[in-house]
Amino acid sequence: MRLRVGLSILACAGSALAQVASTFIDPDTGIPFMGITDPVHRVSYGIVLPPLATSGSNPTEFIASITSPIAGQWVGLALGGAMLQNLLLVAWPNGNSVVHSTRIAATYDQPTPYAGPVITDLQHTMVNATHWKWVFRCQNCTNWGTGSLPVSGGGVLAWAYSSAPVTTPSNPNSDFLEHTDFGFFGISYADAHASQADYDNWAAGGTGGGSGTPTSQPPTTPTSQPTVSATPYDYIVVGAGPGGLVTADRLSETGKKVLLLERGGPSTWETGGRYQPDWLAGQPYTKFDVPGLFESMFSDGNQFWWCRDINVFAGCLLGGGSTINGGLYWYPPDSDFSVASGWPSSWANHAPYTQKMKTRLPSTDHSSMDGIRYLPQSFNVAKRLLDPQGYRQLTINDEPNQKDHVYGYSSFFFQGGKRTGPTGTYFKTAKARPNFTYRDYTFVNSIIRNGTKILGVQTNDTSLGPDGFIPVTPNGRVILSGGSFGSPRLLFSAGIGPTDMLTIAQGDSVVGPKMPPQAQWINLPVGENVQDNPSINLVFTHPDIDAYENWADIMSDPRPADAAQYISSQSGVFASSSPRMNFWRAYGGSDGKTRWMQGTVRPGAASVTSSNPYNASQIFTITTYLSTGITSKGRIGIDVALRPRVLVEPWFTDPIDKAVLLQGINDIVASVGNVSGLTLITPDNTTTISSYVNNYGTGNMNSNHWIGANRLGSSASNSVVDPNAKVFGTDNLFVVDASIIPSMPMGNPQGAIMATAEQAVAKIIALAGGP
Ligand SMILES: Cc1cc2nc3c(=O)[nH]c(=O)nc-3n(C[C@H](O)[C@H](O)[C@H](O)COP(=O)(O)OP(=O)(O)OC[C@H]3O[C@@H](n4cnc5c(N)ncnc54)[C@H](O)[C@@H]3O)c2cc1C
Ligand SMILES: *[C@@H]1O[C@H](CO)[C@@H](O)[C@H](O)[C@H]1NC(C)=O
Ligand SMILES: *[C@@H]1O[C@H](CO)[C@@H](O)[C@H](O)[C@H]1NC(C)=O
Ligand SMILES: *[C@@H]1O[C@H](CO)[C@@H](O)[C@H](O)[C@H]1NC(C)=O
Ligand SMILES: *[C@@H]1O[C@H](CO)[C@@H](O)[C@H](O)[C@H]1NC(C)=O
Ligand SMILES: *[C@@H]1O[C@H](CO)[C@@H](O)[C@H](O)[C@H]1NC(C)=O
Ligand SMILES: *[C@@H]1O[C@H](CO)[C@@H](O)[C@H](O)[C@H]1NC(C)=O
Ligand SMILES: *[C@@H]1O[C@H](CO)[C@@H](O)[C@H](O)[C@H]1NC(C)=O
Ligand SMILES: *[C@@H]1O[C@H](CO)[C@@H](O)[C@H](O)[C@H]1NC(C)=O
Repeated sequence: MRLRVGLSILACAGSALAQVASTFIDPDTGIPFMGITDPVHRVSYGIVLPPLATSGSNPTEFIASITSPIAGQWVGLALGGAMLQNLLLVAWPNGNSVVHSTRIAATYDQPTPYAGPVITDLQHTMVNATHWKWVFRCQNCTNWGTGSLPVSGGGVLAWAYSSAPVTTPSNPNSDFLEHTDFGFFGISYADAHASQADYDNWAAGGTGGGSGTPTSQPPTTPTSQPTVSATPYDYIVVGAGPGGLVTADRLSETGKKVLLLERGGPSTWETGGRYQPDWLAGQPYTKFDVPGLFESMFSDGNQFWWCRDINVFAGCLLGGGSTINGGLYWYPPDSDFSVASGWPSSWANHAPYTQKMKTRLPSTDHSSMDGIRYLPQSFNVAKRLLDPQGYRQLTINDEPNQKDHVYGYSSFFFQGGKRTGPTGTYFKTAKARPNFTYRDYTFVNSIIRNGTKILGVQTNDTSLGPDGFIPVTPNGRVILSGGSFGSPRLLFSAGIGPTDMLTIAQGDSVVGPKMPPQAQWINLPVGENVQDNPSINLVFTHPDIDAYENWADIMSDPRPADAAQYISSQSGVFASSSPRMNFWRAYGGSDGKTRWMQGTVRPGAASVTSSNPYNASQIFTITTYLSTGITSKGRIGIDVALRPRVLVEPWFTDPIDKAVLLQGINDIVASVGNVSGLTLITPDNTTTISSYVNNYGTGNMNSNHWIGANRLGSSASNSVVDPNAKVFGTDNLFVVDASIIPSMPMGNPQGAIMATAEQAVAKIIALAGGP
């Protein structure tokens, strides 16, 4: 589900493929900084700290530098490794000088100026013909109330880069548009402390290093590994999200040797995860078990669960997106697997596969263990809004084909008051089988291909095989379930995809040498045909609403009765995530096509823009999305650092999609006057709905529901995998995840993805020539 502004994030930390800072000597100042040079934009970031205190509190300052090519119109560092609630240090060139600004953001909107830090520009801050450079001392900068710099340990720094100038370059408080790119790097602050004498010299404007420069991290020399002989597997599945978990479980059911590889770590308590708020200390529940902690995925100070190299939200831990998402779960209507939706006719009899999924993981629309629906107010208010428009109420998953003028309670994959999902079901049964092996914290760099045959996978873990290579058995198969961003990158590594992407991969020092020769490249539309629901938020107030403090305190200071109730009986507000109602309506477009609008109603709001006063305790949101029938498409690829990126945004590239969603929003808003006390506050009454929709930033329409990048179909001319989910032109390479779905499902996609995996894995098992 979409709850937060998508591309505007600087989300996370975490154990993922990413750059790690090392010490470099700045050529202008001679200061040995700990930092990185981003390989795409060629911006260097560096930091050096004074010595740690031998007694008492540590110094609260550091010296840092940003050196950017002139194309960087504004560049910033987020000290806590995330955009929200962290000190942001931003700078840009203005003529011959560099303007800087300290900011903080409470929402994914324009960060506001933040007083407190004392910034002194140091020598060599400058603008020349090709670059600009900001070297500065930052005092009172290691603690900003809502976070702090772990000066004696390790952390993550986030960077942001924009190719668009700020509105008023001379003004430090100028507005600026959302960054055009961002990324993260891991940093060991413990290794970034200079001697006091050197630090004092630099802080006073001196240059050059003397003795006692920071202990530079010795380059990680590969320690000679004992020769390991790798175990070959019948099936290797890459990625433990919803697609990979269903696939690996069903494959392991056959008794074959199955290996499941996941780049991230454990999540729920049962899988060894231990990350929990203080109020759950001593309880067997992590943040990923408690559904009601969902909203804190975006505001927590330690967001290690996001994929650090992907600049939209994607979960990189056991369970993938299903561990960090809203938990909305829809049994697919027949249209989700119809020929009209782009599936081959061999997929149309989908009901048995949906049935298999329901048997393993039934949905619930009352996930609290006592059966009570808590925080019901937004449902009741929205009902009064929709009833005058001819909507009727039903139990949504009892009648999946009814998707016009209907609403019902939100439905989830939670069980026993816990998140559960595919991790607590499919993974659990797979894990118990002797021929199933799971390895986490294992990153698959490359898929190794010789002609039409996949030989195995190249990982970053040399304990798993010589040089990290893990082979498949003679008839063995590899299945990619890395998600809509992860799987395209893996295909590129195998020399499969558009030539422009393969050329980038070939240039990479790790992946390039393992790629098949150019003569064996397979040109398939990997990364094309991408769709995501365009979504637009409407924010309202109503006196009946309990906005639940906009979920701001759920980690650190929950309502005591609700916390106690969850602990004692897995009941109450924390037994569900935030959504309360979903609704659908069908619309005919001017091109004769039918498109469906979905709505999700929840207390709280990601952001409010209003020129009138409003009561924040009474806010709720209706997110409107366009689903089945949308025609807009985009493209996913990689940048030169092989980081997955959105190359072409998929929202509203067809103006008819926009016209239909605008109509849907107008219809909802038309009944506001029928509900006494109901006020639309975003957009407010100074903004028309059409100007709101027209000015809605496309990046903010991201619903995180990406599909289509490795479309399943009958022809290699427009599809990547065939009706058996096998990659065209290969003998034994398959993709099973969101990326093979050819067009937008009716609802939030996880149910459709898992049901897709049920059918795909059945076809893979049945396909001759396997292990
Ligand atoms: C914030 C957010 C909220 C959402 N809310 C909902 C919702 O309420 N309902 C709903 O239906 N959908 C929701 N979604 C979408 C849903 O979570 C995704 O569509 C779904 O998780 C995709 O499943 P997948 O198996 O294709 O890939 P993913 O879930 O992305 O899983 C891919 C896995 O592969 C691993 N991986 C990738 N590359 C490699 C590699 N090279 N080596 C090793 N491992 C690798 C990743 O770490 C990850 O665990 C939400 C998504 C987000 C981000
Ligand atoms: C492999 O990569 C994963 C994910 O980035 C990381 O957590 C792990 O530590 C790496 N393993 C090795 C042996 O470097
Ligand atoms: C340090 O910054 C904080 C805000 O982060 C501010 O409240 C405080 O007054 C500042 N202290 C000094 C000494 O400037
Ligand atoms: C501008 O400054 C940068 C950073 O110090 C330096 O690398 C570059 O050579 C300079 N360019 C010119 C034209 O002097
Ligand atoms: C596990 O694999 C071995 C060898 O392939 C096989 O003999 C055995 O029957 C399998 N075990 C199960 C439980 O299927
Ligand atoms: C809703 O409000 C409109 C305009 O105020 C009114 O014409 C209409 O009759 C109302 N509908 C219902 C069902 O109350
Ligand atoms: C690659 O395939 C060719 C032709 O089938 C074969 O001769 C060669 O041995 C294979 N190489 C490897 C490393 O398997
Ligand atoms: C704001 O809403 C809350 C909850 O409904 C209410 O208790 C409070 O009095 C309201 N505040 C104002 C100023 O109206
Ligand atoms: C807009 O709404 C505010 C209260 O939210 C109200 O005070 C104002 O009169 C309204 N303006 C118009 C033009 O309706």
